[in-house]
Amino acid sequence: MAGGPSGTAEGISTASLAWTIIMASFAAFGGILFGYDTGTIGGVIAMQDWLQTFGSYSPSLNYYLATNNKSLVVSILSAGTFFGALLSFPLGDLVGRKWGLISSCIIFCLGVGLQLDTRWVTFVVGRVVAGLGVGAVSCLVPMYQSECAPKKIRGLIVGLYQLAITFGALFAAIVLNATKNQLSHSAWRTPIAVQFVWAFVLGGGMALLPESPRYLLYKDRVPAARKALSRLLSRPEDSPEVDAEVVEITLASLAITCNSALSHNILFQALEAERALGSNSYIDCFRNTPNRNGLRTWTGILLQAWQQLTGINFIFYYGTTFFKSAGISNPFIITIITDVVNTCMTIVGIQLIDRVGRRRLLLIGAAGMMFCEYIVAIVGVTVGSHNNNTADANINLPAQRVLIAFVCFYIAFFATSWGPVAWVVTGELFPLAIRAKGMSLSVASNWLWNFGIGYATPYLVDPSTPGPTGIKAANLGVKVFFIWGSTCLGCFLFAFFFIPETKGLSLEQIDLLYRESTILGSNKYRQQMLAENETFAHHDVSHIV
Ligand code: GLC
Repeated sequence: MAGGPSGTAEGISTASLAWTIIMASFAAFGGILFGYDTGTIGGVIAMQDWLQTFGSYSPSLNYYLATNNKSLVVSILSAGTFFGALLSFPLGDLVGRKWGLISSCIIFCLGVGLQLDTRWVTFVVGRVVAGLGVGAVSCLVPMYQSECAPKKIRGLIVGLYQLAITFGALFAAIVLNATKNQLSHSAWRTPIAVQFVWAFVLGGGMALLPESPRYLLYKDRVPAARKALSRLLSRPEDSPEVDAEVVEITLASLAITCNSALSHNILFQALEAERALGSNSYIDCFRNTPNRNGLRTWTGILLQAWQQLTGINFIFYYGTTFFKSAGISNPFIITIITDVVNTCMTIVGIQLIDRVGRRRLLLIGAAGMMFCEYIVAIVGVTVGSHNNNTADANINLPAQRVLIAFVCFYIAFFATSWGPVAWVVTGELFPLAIRAKGMSLSVASNWLWNFGIGYATPYLVDPSTPGPTGIKAANLGVKVFFIWGSTCLGCFLFAFFFIPETKGLSLEQIDLLYRESTILGSNKYRQQMLAENETFAHHDVSHIV
């Protein structure tokens, strides 16, 4: 955020910067809900007492869950999250980002409560309802963060959301590992009930934080926006820092293109135009407007789809089962290892976003993942031996190690690139007028693909025992990594042609970039704007508010 002792657009005291960062990153806690919730189900359905409660029994397989039920219970959350993400638009625009997040936590708790029941239907419905909450949270968190974060470290702050997702998944693995051997008929309830804690912390914490000042200004609630800014910047409401920030948020882009001619008229005309646009419909998100709404909306939708098509959730949903079928003796531990790699490398990744840049990280990450996934597939296919009961049983020890190592490298590439960067880019991609709608469509796309992949994967990977639906599983086993490797090539091409470099720009400057530059020329244009920022930083802007 802008604002400094002299009321210029740049410069901010270390204490208030720290406070802004704490506030903007607290919302990242929402990522724990997301990561824990998606990370916990794979382990819960492998727990003996859960299988005794919800599974079927056969003398040869003991308690087990049929492929169709496995697909359903894992992926149904993502169906709820899809609608939850769409719900985030009315929530985020009508009640605001902050109250939208609090309401989503309440919905989530309802869903968790339902999952504590022992009836299959209630359990499944509970996952859908919890999904509604997670879906809305997954959209509102990056929206709130990118609207509150200082531009120079926006990548880092929104990246913290992805870090929280990975922590959530890691906690899930730890809780599952701790409870899996408990001798109780309801040990499976513990990992599920832990989710209340995350929702209480997020909901309670958000109640204490200010609303997004960009949202308030957009709604023409200027005094409330000044109050929120005063809290975010730790400065009095009538201070030059708050003045400077109001200008920066509403019209930084204009100020830069005509930085010698700042006038009240220009400011208010542009504000009116922005508000008028805001009353447009979803269809307007796809229109070819001067600031390229259509291109931006499709970019968000496809970016999130490609993030899922990296195949990452194959590891997080079915990793335990996959490692078990590869003959690895303690698959729960390997799952924890993959989660640790994901978390640690995300810490590295979020520091790189504002240094290396979004576009470059996406390109490097896609190439790295593609390489590792092909290696996993080739090793699995050349060394693995198929039998009729397990997909790739009896891979020898050295091959198991190579397989685990390259799965970890693959996760490391994801964690330093597509994991956090897709969320960061989605948070900064849209102009304010369509931000809530555009983000909700993009995040809904993430969940739609998440659902599709979660649902289809057991059919792709499992041995070919037909489920009660009669659909035969494809028994691809480790060969599924050939598919993910190829989709990563798609990720590379998509990033190359559609993602501009936006490192260091304010959200309003990104609007300008879309208006006036091509994707391939974005870096050059960005450099020009950064040079103009330097000039603007030395102008006193307090006179125009
Ligand atoms: C990203 C993906 C999510 C995945 C997670 C793994 O946030 O959107 O689906 O589970 O990364 O770290």
